[in-house]
Amino acid sequence: MEKIKYVPIIMESLVFGKNSAYPLYMKSGDNYILYRSKALIFSKSDTLRLKNSGIKYLYIKEEDKDRYDSDILEHVKTIINSEDLDFEERTVKIYTYSKVYAEYVITTGDLKNNREGIKKSIETTMEYLLMSEFAFMNLLNLSDHDYNEIGHGINVSIYAMALANRLGFSNKISLYEIGLAGLIHDIGKLKISKELLSKRDLIESELYEIQKHPLHSKEILIENNIDNSRIINGVLEHHESSDGSGYPFGKLEEHISTYGKILEIVNEFDTLTRNRPYSIKLNTKDALIHMEQNHGLYNNAFLREFSRLMSKNILL
Ligand SMILES: [Fe+2]
Repeated sequence: MEKIKYVPIIMESLVFGKNSAYPLYMKSGDNYILYRSKALIFSKSDTLRLKNSGIKYLYIKEEDKDRYDSDILEHVKTIINSEDLDFEERTVKIYTYSKVYAEYVITTGDLKNNREGIKKSIETTMEYLLMSEFAFMNLLNLSDHDYNEIGHGINVSIYAMALANRLGFSNKISLYEIGLAGLIHDIGKLKISKELLSKRDLIESELYEIQKHPLHSKEILIENNIDNSRIINGVLEHHESSDGSGYPFGKLEEHISTYGKILEIVNEFDTLTRNRPYSIKLNTKDALIHMEQNHGLYNNAFLREFSRLMSKNILL
């Protein structure tokens, strides 16, 4: 008999207060046990109970995955177009939705099993950004500024799409690509030990190990059958600097791709404006001043546009 396959889903992606169209399972050791039959309603308090017990994912049968993805898409479309929700409520829903997929992908490196979901999540954020000039500010106001890879990935993705849009990328495919590259740019850190990533006072060989993470990010993309060279180069070059002082290759500006130049700027900005273990968080204004003082590291035309975008949108 062929073995049934199960795929993980994040609980927040379920529509609360409704029964799901498919049974939900929990993982216990190597076994999957029925958690909810499809007739039972799943509520927000169920999520809290599961989370309190340390459970992050529920599972569905692989055969139900397409249905699940299209249900979510339907749900999000309703949110975006809902007249009943005000703009702020819609923003919260959209941010939560992008977090659902971002969290799964960034913490597991598994893009294969959630390709459609992650695509829809980025496209939804992109459509929302294009809807109104306030959307960008609203989304950013929701983001936390603590040090964590998930919030950082989401923000870099949002900043990258907003900057690309400002730079005149009119094609939605390009905006999606830069959004995806932004979300997963640091995914290669999964291949580096947590101890090393959080270590203070690194010796040269340790720093060298950490600076390999863009190369690991590329490996993970290839392992997940993502072979789009624009996405790969963007991810690979997010720490390259125009003056050649960046890593892993020390490329000069003329050898850095457009996506790489964008990601370098937005990655640095989000890093500077976050609470990090060993450095002080800067506010928007100080972070922009800091980057302008070091303008030799960046593509200057892109940096200027990013400064304008941020000055317009953020309360300094
Ligand atoms: Fe990085």
